[in-house]
Amino acid sequence: MHRSRHVPNGRATTRRSVARLKMALAVLACVLMLAPSAWAQSRPTPGQQVVLVTGSTSGLGQEVARRIAASGAHVIVHGRNRERGMALVEEIERGGTGSAWFYAADFASFAQVREFGEAILRDYARLDVLVNNAGFGSAPDERLLSEDGHEFRFQVNYLAPFLLTRILMPRLLDSAPSRIVNVSSLAANAIDFDDVMIENNFSGRRAYGQSKHSQVMMTFDLAEELEGTGVMVNAVHPAAYMPTGMVRRLGVTPVATIDEGATAVMQLVTSTEIEGGQFFNGLRAGRAPNAQAYDLEARAMLKELSEDLTGLR
Ligand SMILES: NC(=O)c1ccc[n+]([C@@H]2O[C@H](COP(=O)([O-])OP(=O)(O)OC[C@H]3O[C@@H](n4cnc5c(N)ncnc54)[C@H](OP(=O)(O)O)[C@@H]3O)[C@@H](O)[C@H]2O)c1
Repeated sequence: MHRSRHVPNGRATTRRSVARLKMALAVLACVLMLAPSAWAQSRPTPGQQVVLVTGSTSGLGQEVARRIAASGAHVIVHGRNRERGMALVEEIERGGTGSAWFYAADFASFAQVREFGEAILRDYARLDVLVNNAGFGSAPDERLLSEDGHEFRFQVNYLAPFLLTRILMPRLLDSAPSRIVNVSSLAANAIDFDDVMIENNFSGRRAYGQSKHSQVMMTFDLAEELEGTGVMVNAVHPAAYMPTGMVRRLGVTPVATIDEGATAVMQLVTSTEIEGGQFFNGLRAGRAPNAQAYDLEARAMLKELSEDLTGLR
């Protein structure tokens, strides 16, 4: 008796559950259809230029990404902060000119840099410009270590873009004429090869300066290596003390605007008047801020060390 009363009730409950599940699936399908286009990964159209701007979730990189998208290109937005990255993608997609997609990768981890580089090779058949912009400033004045156990600024600002550039090189070569823009700085401390990880006399300023100077040394080396390939590479000090995240952390009153810095970077992205292998202070080409950048032996030592530390050798 008890059993026979229970069975029909159970069937009715199951029917109601199935009906509710169907209704929920129908609602989900409607939501997905109405969702903003940024929810589906945007793909470049045939012939559309593809530009990767590392560190474009804030500050200078964000403005550079906006300008590149405004020119009609597809921008690969990168950073650690997914929320800010996706907000920029959505802003670009809604703007109707250009397109974008976001990838998260922490440059304090070689594993994440490799995964990121491999994802770009897998997802993009062309790469017209690589802007190595991501960076961590001199504040806090503390010696930090990366996930791989290296001095933090040296890895995030220099070793990570060194590795990423090497991983992406086949795509840049295939896409020639193409460009690499290394966003560096006038802050440029010479490398002490007996203490590259700055275990003695550490300061955040020195660590930042060494990492940005290393980028300039890499730029000069790459330019020689890439001669005749159609891949142009330059380094730029965008502007001094722009009101960005790293300057806010330093507590310094901004001197220049983000617009000034973005204009300097954009010159290297778009101008047909410039040549490769140069250091630009804003819009003007000039001497690298530290003479060690012209020391071929020091450059060879840095390159060898970088290949060892990043596992490229
Ligand atoms: N501000 C200046 O006055 C000035 C002057 C000379 C040169 N620069 C150079 O300009 C470039 C841009 O800096 P900014 O001034 O715009 O500073 P910012 O506002 O602090 O932006 C730094 C960008 O780099 C990313 N980033 C930081 N650490 C990272 C990590 N571990 N892994 C991956 N991405 C990381 C950040 O992404 P998340 O926040 O998503 O992690 C952010 O998008 C840097 O290379 C800097 O050295 C700036």
